[in-house]
Amino acid sequence: MQFTGTENYVATEELKVAVNAAIALQKPLLIKGEPGTGKTMLAFEIAKALNKPMYTWHIKSTTVAQQGLYEYDAVARLRDSQLGEEKVKDIANYIVKGQLWNAFESETEQAVLLIDEIDKADIEFPNDLLLELDKMEFFVYELQKTIKAKNRPIVIITSNNEKELPDAFLRRCFFHYIRFPEKSTMQEIIDVHYPNIEQKLVDEAMRIFYNIREVKGLKKKPSTSELIDWIHLLRLGGADTSELEKLDLSEELPPQSGALLKNEQDIELLTKMKKGYQRKFY
Ligand SMILES: Nc1ncnc2c1ncn2[C@@H]1O[C@H](COP(=O)(O)OP(=O)(O)OP(=O)(O)O)[C@@H](O)[C@H]1O
Ligand SMILES: [Mg+2]
Repeated sequence: MQFTGTENYVATEELKVAVNAAIALQKPLLIKGEPGTGKTMLAFEIAKALNKPMYTWHIKSTTVAQQGLYEYDAVARLRDSQLGEEKVKDIANYIVKGQLWNAFESETEQAVLLIDEIDKADIEFPNDLLLELDKMEFFVYELQKTIKAKNRPIVIITSNNEKELPDAFLRRCFFHYIRFPEKSTMQEIIDVHYPNIEQKLVDEAMRIFYNIREVKGLKKKPSTSELIDWIHLLRLGGADTSELEKLDLSEELPPQSGALLKNEQDIELLTKMKKGYQRKFY
């Protein structure tokens, strides 16, 4: 069982090696990289390529580790008891399974479990999952039973590096950083999204895009997903490739620049560049 990429997702050789190493070691794969470089999509594509059921756990600042295991819905039980419902007697009716439990329980098939954006949670969150991810089991106090993974799921964990992860957690993972795609990889990614696109448009869009990324001091560099969106808009607007070819960032902002530049400081930075250019020459 090897991950070799999919027709919708361009995986570099390094990334494929990392995915397969994590699968072979049966360790979670920790994926880092700039926003929009395909971290989340990777997990979905692995599940699709290997034909496995997928469970997704999106982490927020308020998420606690226990929610991935299970939650006991005491409020529902209280309400039912007031209504005299029969099911109140069995506490199991009020145990709500989390995504880890669902993935562990996947009967016939090994599942893929995505823990998305782990760095959004509290600093203790990764530490609270050490044992569960290591042993792939946990104890349900209310039911007095241990839930153990029938097949160890393939666990993909993504992070945008907003917080450092603890060493003990890192030790348990296989790590891969998705480097920002070089032009040849980016070309492949664009081809996957727009198979019949005019090459000239791609060349010009990529030139402008990589030039913007090189502007020093940008708060938010546009990434793969933004380039994909921008090209989409250029095509919708029937962009004139000869106009794009002439476009010089030091003279004007690119059309539909809202797809690429995501805050006023960056727009200002590029506009200043333009003024600086004029001062130099006039
Ligand atoms: N290697 C790739 N192959 C195909 N499409 C890609 C690739 N990388 C990025 N994309 C495109 O970029 C979009 C964003 O990818 P995704 O949501 O997985 O990024 P991310 O790294 O999880 O970003 P964030 O950190 O913001 O969550 C995808 O929906 C896809 O259109
Ligand atoms: Mg993501």
